[in-house]
Amino acid sequence: RRKLSAKKERTLGMIKPDAVDKLGQILDKICQKGFLISRLRMCRMNRNQALSFYQEHQSKPFLNALLDYVTSGPVVTFEIVGENAVGAWREAIGPTDPSAARKTAPTSIRAQYGQDVTFNAVHGSSDPGAAAREIEFFFPSSGPVPPNTARVGNCT
Ligand code: TYD
Repeated sequence: RRKLSAKKERTLGMIKPDAVDKLGQILDKICQKGFLISRLRMCRMNRNQALSFYQEHQSKPFLNALLDYVTSGPVVTFEIVGENAVGAWREAIGPTDPSAARKTAPTSIRAQYGQDVTFNAVHGSSDPGAAAREIEFFFPSSGPVPPNTARVGNCT
């Protein structure tokens, strides 16, 4: 029986460009961990879109490396719904730095697929407010997401 106190949440996950060639394995792992993906799309961000997505990091020293990375190819983004989805997804991806993750959370996605603190394979919203904003960024409620045709679509 579901606990009445458990809150249903939504969060935004993203597989970053260098990890997209491991898409099948990563999605498999996400499903094995019991997450429900409710919406998913593949698209490529331009620099302004990436800056908007990562607006809270505008003054960080790693901003440029981060923007270079996430615009280097298509990403796969998805909405996860479920009880405590924000925290559960953060726990599943593990610490920001994959080498730390391999020590403290060896079964996490970053431990298994991340390279280093920049090339860390996956994203997860940090809190419910960020999740709402990030879901709206990739899945705007103003209308349907344009269908991708023969090629991967640009992020609108
Ligand atoms: P942050 O929000 O601190 O981490 P998380 O993704 O775990 O919430 O940072 C956002 C992204 O910025 C992070 O996933 C990878 C990148 N980054 C760097 O490139 N260098 C760094 O030193 C840090 C802290 C983050």
